[in-house]
Amino acid sequence: DRPLTVAIDGPAASGKGTLAKRLAVLLGVPHLDTGLLYRAVGRRVLDDGADPADAEAATAAAVALVPADLGRSDLRGPVADAAAAKVASVPGVRAALLEFQRRFAQSGAVLDGRDIGTVVLPDAQVKLFVTAGLDVRARRRHQELMARGGNVPDFEMIRAEMAARDEADRTRAAAPLRPADDAAILDTSSLDASEALARAEAIIRWKL
Ligand code: C5P
Repeated sequence: DRPLTVAIDGPAASGKGTLAKRLAVLLGVPHLDTGLLYRAVGRRVLDDGADPADAEAATAAAVALVPADLGRSDLRGPVADAAAAKVASVPGVRAALLEFQRRFAQSGAVLDGRDIGTVVLPDAQVKLFVTAGLDVRARRRHQELMARGGNVPDFEMIRAEMAARDEADRTRAAAPLRPADDAAILDTSSLDASEALARAEAIIRWKL
């Protein structure tokens, strides 16, 4: 039997991360948040004093990435968000991260990101495209940041930044954000995390 791989893609704050984590526990396989890879590459470029949009600097940072980079505490927040989206449009960065992601999935895994069903694991047994309206997603992100405390940008700012990042992810030439042809669409606009999990479980039972 082929190891079980689940590909979960979708825009920012769609609920895909929480869903991926819970599904992995339920299915007894490891989970990889692939956004962390791009975030860590973006951070490395910033550490080097370079521009995340600089293809050469970004590719060098991706090649030099080590697992410990994924444990950094500064991978969230507006600066990391923007740097991640910039390095993510560089083909050399995506190529450097591809091998690691595929190896991670070798004995079964849940991966979440933007191009898992389309590029990283095109043969995944289950593909989910998790989405929600922009206002709902911006509200979620706002609440998430408030719960974490500290300096929180206002709602309008968060929504504008999120819309810009989604647009960049959807329209870039390299592995743009889009549902795979065989992905099930899961709109979480009116679902909480447990309801989303229940829907995903139903889809998985029907697919397997
Ligand atoms: O999912 P997360 O918001 O952490 O991802 C940060 C950024 O990394 C995204 O906006 C996207 O540009 C990039 N990304 C990607 N492909 C993935 C995961 C993330 O391009 N598989």
